[in-house]
Amino acid sequence: MSSETGSHGTGSDENVPEDENEKLPGEREPQGHGEVGVPDEDPFADPGLPPHEHRVQDIDERAAKRSERTVAMLFTVSMLATVGFIASYVAFPIDKIVYIWPLGHVSALNLSLGLTLGLALFCIGAGAVHWARTLMSDVEIADERHPIEAEPEVRQKVLADFRQGAKESQLGRRKLVRHTMFGALTLVPLSGVVLLRDLGPLPEDKMRHTAWKKGKLLINENTDEPLKPDDIVVGSLAFAKPEGLDQHDHDFNVEIAKAALMLVRIEPDDIKDKRTLDWSHEGILAYSKICTHVGCPVSLYEQQTHHVLCPCHQSTFDLSDGARVLFGPAGHPLPQLKISVNKDGYLEAQGDFAEPVGPAFWERG
Ligand code: FES
Repeated sequence: MSSETGSHGTGSDENVPEDENEKLPGEREPQGHGEVGVPDEDPFADPGLPPHEHRVQDIDERAAKRSERTVAMLFTVSMLATVGFIASYVAFPIDKIVYIWPLGHVSALNLSLGLTLGLALFCIGAGAVHWARTLMSDVEIADERHPIEAEPEVRQKVLADFRQGAKESQLGRRKLVRHTMFGALTLVPLSGVVLLRDLGPLPEDKMRHTAWKKGKLLINENTDEPLKPDDIVVGSLAFAKPEGLDQHDHDFNVEIAKAALMLVRIEPDDIKDKRTLDWSHEGILAYSKICTHVGCPVSLYEQQTHHVLCPCHQSTFDLSDGARVLFGPAGHPLPQLKISVNKDGYLEAQGDFAEPVGPAFWERG
């Protein structure tokens, strides 16, 4: 425990002038007859620091030991929780759903990861607080204000204070606390390390095939009705999905995301890349809606220029020029879907996209 006292405390009388005519620092001179200056007696005298009261841990080594064990227990629980986090990550399948009252049906993996990581961090925090409150020195020290520029002696004093603080924290003496704290702090970052596994594996050819097939009708995403050419007017952007996707299917969300399609009608004379006309119907062009940068939905259409913008990182594609990238980090044009009209007058796909949709940099040459 520190032997320092509040000798530098604001309660000392060293700033009080002995001569009552001597001015306090910052005290103004009276401005003239009848003007009132700073009163000779400070009506709000600094009461100084209260007398220091020892805690039970300061005077009873057994109580200090109990605190040490409590801190060590908290750090140990943190370590176990981190191990539990890693075990949960390995043990629970991503689609395992459990019923927890009152939350209802929740992902077992998310729940266990959240609980174990929360417990690990909480126990580190609680251990540190308990350590500070019961074992570290709690002597209050008041420091006078001083110029911002630090003198060499001040730097020496700061270093000395730091060493003193390290000594008073009892980090050297309380080996149990020290070892368990380092253990907890070493283990808890592992929670982040195991999550790196989610960066892989690569989806390989999963982005190469979508739900589009020859003869699949283009269904309006908003009305769920099959689209006809007249539904797509010049200057508008429409969104479509393939017919037959069942929202109760296990992979419905994956399939509908991969197949997301946008349709635009451009006057054939305004289409720069004439090769795309072979895959269009009367100037109606169909492109993947998934940005080739990192997969955000592209949707901000500028009808005068036929540019479409990705809101995530501003990649801009020219739909009149084969969805070529005009700007931004996207590396490839948006894949085009070949479409035509069936005998009933509805728009239909002529097959799947010719290229993988989305970023898919690992699949392209
Ligand atoms: S995801 Fe589209 S620009 Fe980044």
